[in-house]
Amino acid sequence: MPSTAFVFFLLSLSSFSVALDQPRNHPPNPFSRRGNSRNVPPQGFYDPRAQGGSFLTQVNNTFPVGLVLGEPINAIILGSSDDAVLVDQQQDGGLRNYFLSFGFAGECLGQHSGSDQAANLGDGHGYLNESAVIRWDYGNPTLGTCQETIEGGNHFRYWVQNGNEANSGAIFMAVSYELPDSLQHDIIYNGYNLARDWLIGNATAQSQIIPTANVTNQTTYSGQTSFNGYVYQTSVQYVSGLLPNGSDGINHFGSVGANGTNAVDGLSALMTVKILQQPAKTKSSASPSRLPSHWTSSPLTFALGALALLLGSSLL
Ligand SMILES: *[C@@H]1O[C@H](CO)[C@@H](O)[C@H](O)[C@H]1NC(C)=O
Ligand SMILES: *[C@@H]1O[C@H](CO)[C@@H](O)[C@H](O)[C@H]1NC(C)=O
Ligand SMILES: *[C@@H]1O[C@H](CO)[C@@H](O)[C@H](O)[C@H]1NC(C)=O
Ligand SMILES: *[C@@H]1O[C@H](CO)[C@@H](O)[C@H](O)[C@H]1NC(C)=O
Ligand SMILES: *[C@@H]1O[C@H](CO)[C@@H](O)[C@H](O)[C@H]1NC(C)=O
Ligand SMILES: *[C@@H]1O[C@H](CO)[C@@H](O)[C@H](O)[C@H]1NC(C)=O
Ligand SMILES: *[C@@H]1O[C@H](CO)[C@@H](O)[C@H](O)[C@H]1NC(C)=O
Repeated sequence: MPSTAFVFFLLSLSSFSVALDQPRNHPPNPFSRRGNSRNVPPQGFYDPRAQGGSFLTQVNNTFPVGLVLGEPINAIILGSSDDAVLVDQQQDGGLRNYFLSFGFAGECLGQHSGSDQAANLGDGHGYLNESAVIRWDYGNPTLGTCQETIEGGNHFRYWVQNGNEANSGAIFMAVSYELPDSLQHDIIYNGYNLARDWLIGNATAQSQIIPTANVTNQTTYSGQTSFNGYVYQTSVQYVSGLLPNGSDGINHFGSVGANGTNAVDGLSALMTVKILQQPAKTKSSASPSRLPSHWTSSPLTFALGALALLLGSSLL
């Protein structure tokens, strides 16, 4: 049977790529159920400040040179969200697919152009650069973030709290709205607070912009978004007390905070994300280009591939 042989051939290829892509010293997947597994406290994350960390990032080379300023980590996807959402990948409804569901995508053509910032989430990793910079995609998941890089717009850096000392799996996001490239990507007036609320407005599918001046400790929003057949429910609660309410030590404090407005209003958006629906997994609906990367991650496929190799070679 030619078609069976072809399937065996595909399976064997996938087993070869498992062998090639995953050398023995490959770092362990932090979301793996084995070993260092997630342990989520009732509030959905560990307070970084409890173990030497901070809700402010570290930004080097700000003026005056040598002074380290910070940007607020003002939104957190809680560890109590669905497991699949907290996996940093696009497939299987993961974090990148969730970002796409509310209009945010990875950097322009995969090129990293944003400057790096470091954050210490108090999880034992110490200060780490962001996992990635994610930008508003202007309605175009493929090329829209190129437009954002040039014209400015909403964007965020994120870090995952997954170190051995505080492994909640929560995603910590520093959200801000930047000016166009020609203006050196400064942040707009009130651009940390506004960017947080515009992101939350999109993630909860609000029909009106969230009135930033009226948001207080305990304000809530919720709503649904979808991408690639996955439907997400996002429930947000704002809390005060995690971030400072002020401008001291904040990057771009002079332009973001002005005429009596604090650069950071002291509010953080805590997001709980659940997957309400996912696409039916049938052979015909699976896109061929996505099969290999999906399958190579499965130990079952590895076993099947090995079996196919044996059977296939005897059949062919
Ligand atoms: C973090 O970013 C800085 C600035 O781009 C870079 O010099 C440094 O090597 C990065 N650190 C790591 C661990 O990648
Ligand atoms: C900040 O500067 C320190 C000391 O030079 C360096 O180790 C670190 O990688 C820098 N971080 C970033 C994000 O540039
Ligand atoms: C969604 O984000 C865009 C880009 O930042 C913004 O213009 C728009 O007002 C946001 N929508 C809501 C409801 O906040
Ligand atoms: C914000 O609060 C002010 C005063 O409490 C109120 O007049 C205004 O309508 C509110 N704005 C929105 C958009 O809810
Ligand atoms: C926020 O509201 C909660 C519930 O009312 C309260 O327990 C908490 O103390 C408030 N936080 C601050 C910083 O006021
Ligand atoms: C932050 O401080 C300002 C005064 O500087 C105050 O009006 C505002 O209510 C405070 N916000 C929060 C969330 O506590
Ligand atoms: C405060 O200053 C900023 C720029 O410095 C300006 O864009 C904004 O309109 C001012 N807001 C008020 C209420 O005066």
